[in-house]
Amino acid sequence: MPKLITFENYTDMCKKAACIIASQIIMKENSVLGLATGSTPIGIYELLSKWCARGDLDFSKVRTVNLDEYCGLPAGHDQSYRYFMNKRLFDNVNIDKNNTYVPNGLAPDANKEGGNYDKLIELLGGIDLQLLGIGHNGHIGFNEPSDVFISVTHRVELTQETISANARFFNDISQVPKTAITMGLRGIMNAKKILLAANGESKKDIIEKVLNGRVTPKVPASVLQLHPDVTILYSKA
Ligand code: F6R
Repeated sequence: MPKLITFENYTDMCKKAACIIASQIIMKENSVLGLATGSTPIGIYELLSKWCARGDLDFSKVRTVNLDEYCGLPAGHDQSYRYFMNKRLFDNVNIDKNNTYVPNGLAPDANKEGGNYDKLIELLGGIDLQLLGIGHNGHIGFNEPSDVFISVTHRVELTQETISANARFFNDISQVPKTAITMGLRGIMNAKKILLAANGESKKDIIEKVLNGRVTPKVPASVLQLHPDVTILYSKA
């Protein structure tokens, strides 16, 4: 069962998450980190950037694979997940950018790109620590509620709920891409350790379902109940 740690505030949650990620890097300098975007990890990446800048953390041998990318957005687009990762973390730490991977949102065949991405994760030796956020509908990466768990990295139609939730990052909801490439649930579940971070009252119900509800593809994150090493960090505010 996932282990739940609850915090009063976002700052404390981020500190804990950053400490867990930092200790992973300290224990294994060439760790493969699975990374997420969205608003939740911003404070975590800020701390990691700070610790690296003052010389307490070394990213020089770290490899990273991101969970997802919007289809149709070039890497330089300010809402692409590649852009987000560069700005929030990679530009601020001593990582070799050649060792950072984000699915290519411009790939002509997103499912083929997915197959290559899965092979890449395998070649890297699998993910040591996967950081996840969670959508209000239980999505992880962009694995949306569905009738089946999809194991491979694939193209996904975003739900209206996800498009609305992500509209806050765009000038207008019509600019939010309708499709994305996401790592599949096998890629996530094969990670040796999983760290899921969620904050705010609005995520309380979904965290409760993930922990105590039925395992069902209607709540994709419920599959985490079947993983042997999951820590959920939840902050109330
Ligand atoms: C992004 C991702 C998504 C987000 C989720 C929560 O890479 O994988 O699953 O983690 O949509 O987003 P925030 O943190 O903005 O609430």
